[in-house]
Amino acid sequence: MAKVCASFFPAVRSFAKQTRNQPYKAMSQNKTTTGGKNAALHQAKKGKNDEFYTQLTDIENELVHYKSFFRGKTVLCNCDDPRISNFFKYFALSFNILGLKRIITTCYKNNCPDLFSRNDTEQAVYLIYDGNDGKSMPDWDKVDVKPLHGNGDFRSAECIELLKQADIVVTNPPFSLFREYVAQLVAYNKKFLIIGHQNAITYKEIFPLIKDNKIWLGYGFKGGAGHFISNYEDIASASNHIAGMIRVSGVHWFTNLEHKRRHEELILYKRYNPEEYPKYDNYDAINVDKVNEIPCDYDGVMGVPITFLDKYNPEQFEILGATESEGKGFSNGLFNKDFTITQPLVRGTRIYKRIFIRKIQP
Ligand SMILES: C[S@@+](CC[C@H](N)C(=O)[O-])C[C@H]1O[C@@H](n2cnc3c(N)ncnc32)[C@H](O)[C@@H]1O
Repeated sequence: MAKVCASFFPAVRSFAKQTRNQPYKAMSQNKTTTGGKNAALHQAKKGKNDEFYTQLTDIENELVHYKSFFRGKTVLCNCDDPRISNFFKYFALSFNILGLKRIITTCYKNNCPDLFSRNDTEQAVYLIYDGNDGKSMPDWDKVDVKPLHGNGDFRSAECIELLKQADIVVTNPPFSLFREYVAQLVAYNKKFLIIGHQNAITYKEIFPLIKDNKIWLGYGFKGGAGHFISNYEDIASASNHIAGMIRVSGVHWFTNLEHKRRHEELILYKRYNPEEYPKYDNYDAINVDKVNEIPCDYDGVMGVPITFLDKYNPEQFEILGATESEGKGFSNGLFNKDFTITQPLVRGTRIYKRIFIRKIQP
């Protein structure tokens, strides 16, 4: 069995001493210049680098809405080096408050406690934490990080064995593997709360799950953007820049845990008129440009921006489909096949992708 980097215990201790959200050393060193808008996301999509880390405050801000689900449960964070992950930190520090049974974390291709995983080893580590005999603080000297046999890929047999033991999976997985990551959670029938990008909403593997109310969005990040601890170059404007972090717009929490906001009714105040809400040229539905302008008195099919999902209440609306530009057959028969253009067309002009919805009649 390969050796785990000898210095991980000091790392766990120094981890415990980190101030809230304060990343480890070298946070601002070795900047990786990737260029372009939302550079980290582009890199992630290319599968080249998924190394950016979630802040503790972002985890706390979301998790506060789901506390009741965790009592007596085993939580798995399977894209998380326990020595640096704020997910592990959050659950370890909240172990008694949440009434957890166990925390399991596994990391990927890394056995040294460095903030920025280099993914340069075929050996990874895992940790099982069962609390500290009722004490509120973990005893970091006793937090026992162990070597895995393999590289910690969430799809590996040994990681799947750990997944089977878990009740709820909570993490920020690699964006580049989001489809496979969610498919595995669904296949193993797991509850989850994970971070992803809003582009994933219309992936052909993800959208049917959203449409069928098997996955929904959580409360989310303020302004729809998150700052993540990273050594990528941040191209955020000066007012948005935070040292040692990248700003990623369009990030969301995806979950199958119920939450209160999902059942709040969206207040509708606008009235339908055909001028303001024209029918698409190529879809059998009317176009609504802004979610808060959904007409209160229209009972037919409406195309709305994907930001609708932030406000989606399944008792108020049903989701029928999405534009075929996102996938063949997505529109559920609303597309007029005489057209070759699958993006929604309004009076001859292409507009951005849409989700088709209809009010549920009381
Ligand atoms: C966006 S980072 C988030 C890290 C951590 N979950 C957090 O939020 O701070 C995604 C992590 O997934 C890891 N990863 C990449 N491919 C993986 C795989 N196949 N299996 C498990 N983890 C993987 C990366 O090493 C990276 O640390």
